[in-house]
Amino acid sequence: MMDLRLFSLTLLFSTILTPALSELCNPKDKKVLFEIKTAFHNPYILSSWKSNADCCTDWYNVECDPTTHRINSLTIFTDTNLTGQIPAQVGDLPYLETLELRKLPHLTGPIQPSIAKLQHLKMLRLSWNGLSGSVPDFLSQLKNLTFLELNFNNFTGSIPSSLSQLPNLGALHLDRNQLTGQIPSSFGKFVGTVPDLFLSHNQLTGKIPTSFANMNFDQIDLSRNKLEGDASVIFGLNKTTQIVDLSRNMLEFDLSKVVFSTSLRAVDLNHNKITGSIPAQLTKLNDLVLFNVSYNMLCGQIPVGGKLQSLDTTSYFHNRCLCGAPLPRCK
Ligand SMILES: *[C@@H]1O[C@H](CO)[C@@H](O)[C@H](O)[C@H]1NC(C)=O
Ligand SMILES: *[C@@H]1O[C@H](CO)[C@@H](O)[C@H](O)[C@H]1NC(C)=O
Ligand SMILES: *[C@@H]1O[C@H](CO)[C@@H](O)[C@H](O)[C@H]1NC(C)=O
Ligand SMILES: *[C@@H]1O[C@H](CO)[C@@H](O)[C@H](O)[C@H]1NC(C)=O
Ligand SMILES: *[C@@H]1O[C@H](CO)[C@@H](O)[C@H](O)[C@H]1NC(C)=O
Repeated sequence: MMDLRLFSLTLLFSTILTPALSELCNPKDKKVLFEIKTAFHNPYILSSWKSNADCCTDWYNVECDPTTHRINSLTIFTDTNLTGQIPAQVGDLPYLETLELRKLPHLTGPIQPSIAKLQHLKMLRLSWNGLSGSVPDFLSQLKNLTFLELNFNNFTGSIPSSLSQLPNLGALHLDRNQLTGQIPSSFGKFVGTVPDLFLSHNQLTGKIPTSFANMNFDQIDLSRNKLEGDASVIFGLNKTTQIVDLSRNMLEFDLSKVVFSTSLRAVDLNHNKITGSIPAQLTKLNDLVLFNVSYNMLCGQIPVGGKLQSLDTTSYFHNRCLCGAPLPRCK
């Protein structure tokens, strides 16, 4: 009888207490993660988050730092059942470097202000959700951010000019929202690295900041907005820009006056109000695989040489009087 009780007790210790003692998961982090799970209404996708399992070794959707065992990554991706807003408790995972909540169509509401507390955050990816409200100014406090992705949501309001204060930003994706106002002129001078800039599919108005003349973006996509005026500042002989998409805006400038760098690989200018002719200098761009100037007001002969004749006629069609190969010959 005694032995059996001792045996039961040993069993109790080994099954309940021993795993707890050897658990790597920080108890503060574990508590916060359970609060997050509750705030999301216990979705099936988080069913590995169990109290008798170690969040560092047994849970999905989170990762721990190998030495401190603090949670450094929370990634929830593609789930149509997860509902709710971003819980304030995400701000209580102080060592988070990656926060990724993506393709969660029922994740709604604003970007939670407590995210400003996450000073170690490098990667903030909140794309393809149903988030709304403004792109908050406080994101510029996250000085270690290298990647900021908020595309495919319902964000409104203007783009905070303070984002240019992020010293390590490599990519800024604000595309496919309902952002309004102008592109901040501060984006003509980022304090550190120049990010790849994706602002397409919004309702941005006004002119492209003249300060962009000093900027050497690697990739810039401003397509499908309501931008007006000159875009020649994006280009320049000495730039190393590779991809430029300015299609479907209301841009109005003389293409003959634009100087293109040989680094360009893709230039999409379709559906604007661009005048003038195609500069002969474009025949020198040996890496050009896309050059689409369709649906503009261009005139004159397409210069002969380089990649210009290898492009499809649809790259040039619907202009005022553009002619020559690959379009019909000039009269
Ligand atoms: C969503 O919920 C339904 C019903 O509870 C379930 O059958 C389905 O597997 C869930 N899908 C995911 C991706 O969790
Ligand atoms: C930011 O990044 C730098 C360089 O990687 C690192 O030294 C610093 O500790 C980081 N700061 C925070 C708050 O994580
Ligand atoms: C944005 O809001 C509209 C209506 O307000 C809705 O139809 C649409 O699905 C929303 N988009 C996203 C990505 O949530
Ligand atoms: C481009 O670089 C060349 C050689 O470094 C320099 O002479 C020229 O002034 C530069 N052009 C522009 C527009 O900055
Ligand atoms: C150029 O753009 C027009 C308008 O969007 C499109 O119809 C056409 O297919 C494009 N052509 C190429 C080669 O990209």
